[in-house]
Amino acid sequence: MLSALITATMCLVPTVTLKMSGRQFPVAAGETVLEAAQRAGVALPYSCRAGVCGSCKATLLEGRCEYPRNPPTALSASARAQHAVLLCQAVPVSDLLLEAREVTSVADFARRQLSVVVTDRWRLAPDVIGLRLLPVDGESRLNWLPGQYLDVLLEDGKRRPFSIANGPQADGIIELHVRHVAGGGFTSWVNDTLQIGDRLRIEGPLGTFVPREDSERPMLFMAGGTGFAPVKAIVEHFIALGTQRPMQVYWGARSASEIYLRPLAEGWAREVPNLQFHAVVSDPEQAGGLRCGLVHEAVLEDQPDLSGHDLYMSGPPAMIDAGNHLFLDAGLPESRLYYDSFEYAPDVLAQILGSRAGIHDLL
Ligand SMILES: Cc1cc2nc3c(=O)[nH]c(=O)nc-3n(C[C@H](O)[C@H](O)[C@H](O)COP(=O)(O)OP(=O)(O)OC[C@H]3O[C@@H](n4cnc5c(N)ncnc54)[C@H](O)[C@@H]3O)c2cc1C
Ligand code: FES
Repeated sequence: MLSALITATMCLVPTVTLKMSGRQFPVAAGETVLEAAQRAGVALPYSCRAGVCGSCKATLLEGRCEYPRNPPTALSASARAQHAVLLCQAVPVSDLLLEAREVTSVADFARRQLSVVVTDRWRLAPDVIGLRLLPVDGESRLNWLPGQYLDVLLEDGKRRPFSIANGPQADGIIELHVRHVAGGGFTSWVNDTLQIGDRLRIEGPLGTFVPREDSERPMLFMAGGTGFAPVKAIVEHFIALGTQRPMQVYWGARSASEIYLRPLAEGWAREVPNLQFHAVVSDPEQAGGLRCGLVHEAVLEDQPDLSGHDLYMSGPPAMIDAGNHLFLDAGLPESRLYYDSFEYAPDVLAQILGSRAGIHDLL
């Protein structure tokens, strides 16, 4: 009787199978596919963890899942009709067979929590603060891949994600570029109050926006505002590798002053023969002689056929959304579009989405 009950209970734990690698992992009650994969050491792509950016999209080949947390906002009706699912929100109600991209390079970097001290704080732009953080005495340095992000852990248990603007360093320094969001609790504190010597608790590394080295294709990078932070880390990584692949780096912002590390990017273009840099400003009155327009339109003006490229993009959700649609229309295969969308933190998005609609949804 007892063994029959145990067998029945065990059968209730759904198993996820990834079609391409054949890897399998169990999903505990209430867990999302992404959480279960991370617990099992399987690296699946993600960015916002709130169901709005689409970077964790996969295809459900067999089985059923539900969305008891946030609705799958990033899925269009046609994507859902083609059995697309969002792994950061999907909770299995049966065994699943999935077609999902694994990002094996990040699997070696276990995430952990650590305390850091602010060693440097400077103004990069009118609303952007640069921070340098160092693990406090007794903490070992963090390891990460260029382009990954970390969560700042707040005292009330909430988290705020920020991209790491440098690659891992021997001295352990972590650089962040923090844009002040109107009405934002943490970024207002960074802007108004945080001082050198203050301590923060962080968790990292997180995310799958990392260099893909298994390609010989030309690379396009598109950053919006502080989206330059992870792009900087990835470009510096490829420069350090001495890559011969052509690199076009586009950085868009509202005003010239928001292209806050233009001398650095112009320096890359001077010193690296296969790299070109394009600054693009959307407000003609604040362009300061730079190219005017929207940055994704500038990319498409210069490169109307993207079928032969790898494209990395990072920045505000509206820019990522536009890129997601228009770059695929220009021939870029979805599997070669890598991005981090700078959404608000998952708890804020959950509140906003929860107040908009009922969040129960079944596939
Ligand atoms: C993967 C990733 C990487 C990122 N990297 C960077 C980076 O490198 N640099 C950077 O500058 N930013 C980055 N961001 C964005 C950054 O995380 C947010 O700007 C930050 O979390 C804002 O924190 P906050 O506490 O200041 O604002 P919050 O207090 O979270 O508020 C954000 C906004 O939401 C509004 N809001 C809050 N609660 C509600 C509610 N219940 N209903 C309606 N509105 C509400 C606030 O008024 C405010 O306008 C990244 C985001 C992601 C997902
Ligand atoms: S939609 Fe899942 S990570 Fe953004």
